[in-house]
Formats: sequence, C-alpha cells, structure tokens
Amino acid sequence: MPLANITTIERHILDQQKRFPSATGEFTELLYDIALAAKMIARETTRAGLANILGESEGTNFYGERQQKLDVYADEVIMSLNEGTQRLCAMASEEHDDLIEIPTQFGLGKYVLLFDPLDGSSNIDVNVSVGTIFAIHRRVTPSGQGTMADVLQAGRRLVAAGYVIYGSSTMMVYSAGQGVHGFTLDPALGEFLLSHPDIRVPDTAKFYSANQGNERYWTDGVRGFTRWLQGMDPDDPRKPLSGRYIGSLVTDFHRNLLQGGVFYYPADSREGAPYGKMRLMFEAQAMAYLAQHAGAYASDGIGDILDVVPHSLHQRTPVFVGNRDLVERAEAFIRASDADWLETFGAYRARSAAGG
Ligand code: AHG
Ligand code: MN
Ligand code: MN
Repeated sequence: MPLANITTIERHILDQQKRFPSATGEFTELLYDIALAAKMIARETTRAGLANILGESEGTNFYGERQQKLDVYADEVIMSLNEGTQRLCAMASEEHDDLIEIPTQFGLGKYVLLFDPLDGSSNIDVNVSVGTIFAIHRRVTPSGQGTMADVLQAGRRLVAAGYVIYGSSTMMVYSAGQGVHGFTLDPALGEFLLSHPDIRVPDTAKFYSANQGNERYWTDGVRGFTRWLQGMDPDDPRKPLSGRYIGSLVTDFHRNLLQGGVFYYPADSREGAPYGKMRLMFEAQAMAYLAQHAGAYASDGIGDILDVVPHSLHQRTPVFVGNRDLVERAEAFIRASDADWLETFGAYRARSAAGG
C-alpha cells in the first residue's frame, strides 16, 4: 500500500472533525483517548494468560456476575484515561452500579462516556475474541457534575459510538454519524490504521447468531423466526442461513456487519430476564447507532432501539440487529404470534419513555 494511503485513526478523526466547523477538538480528543485505552487493553488481552490477569477477580458487578480480572483492568484503564481530560461531565460503566463522577480536582467537559469495558468476558479464559463497547452523548444539563439526565438519553441523540475487538487482530470500529469506519492496530507502529472505510452491511445475509440453548424460553414468534431463517418455514421456504454464535456481542455483530446477517438475544421467559440479557445503555444503543450508519437496523422486537427512552442505567432490552429485511421479519413474526409478550413489553417500553 503506497505510504500516502496510510490513514491513522487520529488523522481520520481530524478529517471527520473538519466537516463540523463548530467542533472544538474536544470530541476528537475524546476519541483519541478511547483509541489509547484500546491499545492498552489490547496489550493486556494478548498477555492475559501470562500476566496472571486470567481468571476471576474477587468482585461481582451490578448484575451479580463474577468480574473477570480483565474486566476490572479494562474498566480502570478507560476511567483513568478519561477522568482528567476535562472532556467529560460523567461516565457510566457496565461494571459500576451508579454514575462515575469526575473527581473534583478535574475540570468538566460537555460529553458523557458510556462503556462496556470488556464484552464477552466469559470467553477470556478460553482465548476467544472479546471486545470493548463505547457510546458518547452530549450533556443536556447546563453545568456541574453530569447527572442521570445527561446519561439516560435515547440512542437517537448519540454523537458517536463504536467498539474494539481484541481478536486475531485488534480492530476499532466507530461512527460519528458520517459512516462506519474500521481501523486495524499495527502493533509494531502502535497505530490504528484505516482498513475498512465506510462499512456497509451487504444486501445478502449469510449468518444468523443466537444462543439456541435458550430456545425453550423464547416466544413462539421468535421460534418461528428462527425456523424461517433455517429454511424450515413451510409457508415461506428460503435458503437457510448458516448459524454462527461466538458469545461475544462485539464479535458476532462485527462478522454480521461485514458479511451480512442477524444477531438476536430475545426476551426470555425465565425469572429476571423478561426483556432479555443485553444492556440498553452499554451494548444495545451503540450497536443500534452503528447499524443505523451502516445501512442495517436494530430492533427490540417492537421498534427501533434508538427510539427507546431509557429509565434506568442498567435496564435490559431484547436485541435483533443486522440486515433490515431480517430484523423487520422478526418484528412481523412477533406481531403475528406474541400478543401477550407485546402487551407486557409494550407497557414496559411506554413506561420507560414516560420516565420509568
Ligand atoms: P459481557 O461479557 O459484557 O457481560 O457481555 C456478554 C454478552 C454478550 O457479549 C454476548 O452476546 C452475550 O453476553 C452472550 O450471552 P450467552 O452466554 O447467554 O449466550
Ligand atoms: Mn457486554
Ligand atoms: Mn462487559
């Protein structure tokens, strides 16, 4: 590749910033900081087995899940790299029950950073790709420490979102509303280089990704949708899609974005998971924003996840994300077969919009 074509993520973000004359550079620097955190986490992830960072820490998080040491490390790296930069008025992490306040000795900025520091944690110990997910809102309160009002905003109001995959290579994918762009880390340079400009989901899907071990807890509509994807719907036979499920949202999402497909983690009739497992603020909103800017679509089974007005930091949501025709088909199966679920979830969604 001629050297002139090499674009680092820094240069790319600066070029993007030039399109916003009002941009003051704070936003650009915030994205740099996230890229730096990604490089630090990548370094630890590749050494996880050696640096005795493997395995579980003694902590558990809000969801009662045992925290993996790499979860804790990633969380601390992102917090410490961002707390003193004067670009944020608040942070929120999947690993913290409440908002993360900016220490008083530091100045406050106009953005809010939400993140899932390590996504796919259960895969760490078996050397399967994991990731980091981030989303950026602009504050809505006039000044002072950020509040829940600054954090609990609908996905439509996001200014940027993205993820990092720590896999066979380390990739960072982000959008600031002008397309979705992928960068691959060159470890020798320590630079993320533009490798996937303007990612668009292909028209033809190849894969479907779901944990079919949970099928017995799904609604009839979701089971019907799954049969259809597999080419087993007698009323509407189709070429079956291949099943691919890694168990790290970022990796399943990334493969389906590049090669076409649908990921879904639906509602579940088990106790405590009536609205599924995915976290709206730390996973689903970012994926829905990226889907929107890559020509794909993310639904909670009723409508666009970007339109869901959050009411609590750790609220869950069903997720169907990928090719729009597949996701809209899932909504149709649910409308046709899941009236009871639609009634309870519809009420929950409306309550959420009304502030919970
Ligand atoms: P996290 O590690 O941040 O808790 O996220 C794990 C999520 C997501 O990455 C993945 O798609 C899903 O959990 C897998 O869940 P199951 O193991 O229940 O299939
Ligand atoms: Mn996650
Ligand atoms: Mn996580």
